[in-house]
Amino acid sequence: MHKTVKAGLLASVVLSSHTLQAQEAADAVAPEAATSGHVQTLTEAARAALAAKDAGQVVEAENWMVAAANPLAAEAGAQVLRNGGSAADAMVAVQTVLGLVEPQSSGLGGGAFLVWYDAASQSLTTLDGRETAPVAATPRLFQDDAGEPLKFFDAVVGGRSVGTPGTPALMEEAHRRWGRAPWPTLFGAGIKLAEQGFQVSPRLAGLVERDAERLARFPVTAEYFLPGGAPLVEGDVLTNSAYAQTLHVLAAKGADGFYSGSIAADIVSTVQEAEGNPGVLSQTDLALYQAKERDAVCAAYRAYDVCGMGPPSSGALTVGQILGMLNSYDLAALGAENPESWRLIGDASRLAFADRGRYMADSDFVPMPTAGLVNKEYLADRAKLLAGDDALTEVAPGSPEFDHALNWADDEAIELPSTSHISIVDQYGNVLSMTTTIENAFGSRLMTNGFLLNNELTDFSFRTHRDGVPIANRLEPGKRPRSSMSPTIVMQDGAPLLVIGSPGGSRIIGYVATAIVGWADWDMDLQQALSAPHLVNRFGTYDIEQGTTAEALQTPLEEMGYKVNLRDLTSGLHAIEIGETLKGGADPRREGIALGE
Ligand code: GLY
Repeated sequence: MHKTVKAGLLASVVLSSHTLQAQEAADAVAPEAATSGHVQTLTEAARAALAAKDAGQVVEAENWMVAAANPLAAEAGAQVLRNGGSAADAMVAVQTVLGLVEPQSSGLGGGAFLVWYDAASQSLTTLDGRETAPVAATPRLFQDDAGEPLKFFDAVVGGRSVGTPGTPALMEEAHRRWGRAPWPTLFGAGIKLAEQGFQVSPRLAGLVERDAERLARFPVTAEYFLPGGAPLVEGDVLTNSAYAQTLHVLAAKGADGFYSGSIAADIVSTVQEAEGNPGVLSQTDLALYQAKERDAVCAAYRAYDVCGMGPPSSGALTVGQILGMLNSYDLAALGAENPESWRLIGDASRLAFADRGRYMADSDFVPMPTAGLVNKEYLADRAKLLAGDDALTEVAPGSPEFDHALNWADDEAIELPSTSHISIVDQYGNVLSMTTTIENAFGSRLMTNGFLLNNELTDFSFRTHRDGVPIANRLEPGKRPRSSMSPTIVMQDGAPLLVIGSPGGSRIIGYVATAIVGWADWDMDLQQALSAPHLVNRFGTYDIEQGTTAEALQTPLEEMGYKVNLRDLTSGLHAIEIGETLKGGADPRREGIALGE
């Protein structure tokens, strides 16, 4: 049931009967906890957008829109767009504010992937701002003396896990190509908030409390997040003068001010001198860093082309494989509540994850059957495996067409969810989809110059070989770790129709794929598609979002042979639908909003 209303500066919005219940307060301390609290000191427009999200409504606008994981960041982007800036300009403002108010998820010390639809040339491209392995890193970086993989957090916390950050270079490259506003003006919102202070959000406070022991390991980090020894609490007003100073340097000198000079020197010494777990990142790594342009990867689904980030991300390929297999089945006729739909989705995902584990890595280092993996005939063939009635008892990688002899062993990289997604449409018709991360919540827990350093290197497989066969996603110097980030633009007849993405570790793939199914097949409006309860299957176990109506699917899925796990599934989907108007949605499990005019 839908009802259209006008809400203040919010353009028209649609009321939906399909809202998720507010998440349990206890979730606030879980990893990627669902939180829906609000910072104050927001504009009327941002408050109205939050109210719309809480009511399960899409936000509608005429000219431009930004959807991001924190209202202050969305407001910073909105101000740039309102002043005539492009989506690339707005992204710089959004990212620099996210790095301050949502520091656990993304920032200058991390990496990102950006998908760009260029209205002038009517073309799609992508920028790869992924972190790289230092030149001095060895493939056995995450193994002990006996060659056994380190425990995950023993690898994460400290300098060993830090890859060369890519986000500053990506911001500069995006602005160089597509910016309209003067670069220095894009840092004003971040500088002001860092100097004058912002209120700690419920999400940040919950995660600081949960991670206090690890944050306490390094004095600079502890001083910021645990002032006087106690975790920050919601509503604390936090300033970050070091971050403001870093933004002043970036504004004045561009990315060079980050990759050379005193900030670079501080990054290197912080990594190399990390107590108990030093790393090998050097000035050379920072000096060599480049954001790379890469072709978008697209897969056909129904009447659409679903386009996104290719290697080193597994995102577009795995989302594309899932949807490509589902193309053979009529999910619209089956419906969203039918266990049969979820059998098909679950096993299509398992098959796609089998290919991901075998073949997907940084294609600058390993030959990859990129086109073969999303080839229509290959996926139609793989889809035939889904023709039965029960969960597949065996799931193995397929044999996509490729022009190299490939013999890889299956990967076992662990990705825990942090990360943030930004969707933007500007008044010129450009569309930006960017997923940005420092990997685990609070990354390596190392902080310098007001920002946290990533732990992205732990997205590599800790093992290099299995039974003597190399693993494609093994660590190598200069290589970029495989990602699951899936910044996506859905195209129809060459025009952009939907921009979407999410955080969530390797569950990102399921969150994005099923939101597209909800929107394309199940007649959900955008907010419904983002709010719908999650069911995610990667390696066999069916994760069902606890406390939601999806729990009703537990017994039927178990009867089909799945092992089911009820748990929090904390996506952070942010999306904009592009039609006669722009319609935006934000995930109720995070603090963000869609804001437009
Ligand atoms: N670190 C999360 C990802 O890149 O998928």
